[in-house]
Amino acid sequence: QFELSLRPQRLTQYIGQQQVKENLQIFIEAAKLRQESLDHVLLYGPPGLGKTTLAAVIANEMDVNVRMTSGPAIERPGDLAAILSSLEPGDVLFIDEIHRLPRAIEEVLYPAMEDFCLDIVVGKGPEARSIRLDLPPFTLVGATTRAGALSAPLRDRFGVLLRLEYYDTASLADIVTRSAQLFEVIIEEIAAQEMAKRSRGTPRIANRLLKRVRDYAQVLGNGMITEELAKQALELLQVDPRGLDHIDHKLVTNMIERFRGGPVGLDTLAASIGEERVTIEDVYEPYLMQIGFIQRTPRGRIVTPAAYEHFGYDYAQQT
Ligand code: ADE
Repeated sequence: QFELSLRPQRLTQYIGQQQVKENLQIFIEAAKLRQESLDHVLLYGPPGLGKTTLAAVIANEMDVNVRMTSGPAIERPGDLAAILSSLEPGDVLFIDEIHRLPRAIEEVLYPAMEDFCLDIVVGKGPEARSIRLDLPPFTLVGATTRAGALSAPLRDRFGVLLRLEYYDTASLADIVTRSAQLFEVIIEEIAAQEMAKRSRGTPRIANRLLKRVRDYAQVLGNGMITEELAKQALELLQVDPRGLDHIDHKLVTNMIERFRGGPVGLDTLAASIGEERVTIEDVYEPYLMQIGFIQRTPRGRIVTPAAYEHFGYDYAQQT
């Protein structure tokens, strides 16, 4: 798949997340030296930072296959049992949105993670018996937007916990440049920087912007992404200089105009802009907090003076 080809295959090709990479490098090397499967890994952090990519990179580095699924996709214990029993020794099983795994299925996972076995109930009524099936050793790589959303028994069964952070501008510019090379499109360094600044610390957004800016370059320019063309395209795409889109915009201006900058509760806020609470919590709010535009207080969310200024409101007048 073309989309997958933008993704790095190896740890050395993976840009940013220095601490995560350094740690993983060691754990992978140690597991290989001992000829063991890698311990189970929990990746957590905001969406779009490369959790799925990292799972594939881990499998590549361990020279094993990766099987990808997600919490909501596994509906019955049997679904998980079927996946687990089809794994080969050392394989990586990636479960995205692992916090959405139903509780009954989590319980199948515990003995599988701990002892590499499956407890299956056969028969019904008084004849019912539990039999234990051995599984090959495998590595579970779980991904979630919030480690806190995981049940404690599940979280405790991961030996490696890695938190992905928002990328800095330099790393994102490197990612944009690398992706442009893969697209075989020439891009000015300053253009890559400008796109990096507007990507909300998120490679997925950086690559999406690159695709659209490339469209503008091909239709309105000569195919090359210059600084000027990038700025023009980003304006047409309505991505503001901090990378905020119309939903971020709506979220913050609503808080300012309808709630005097807060404090306002998450549910009230969600209802006022017609978005789901979890979308605000997992997608929009983390970056707005990261750049210091909103803050969480015990009484609700508040807008900071920096955000008033960015959106052209007078903070002094409000209070
Ligand atoms: N593409 C998306 N994320 C990337 C990363 N972290 N490193 C290199 N290329 C990427």
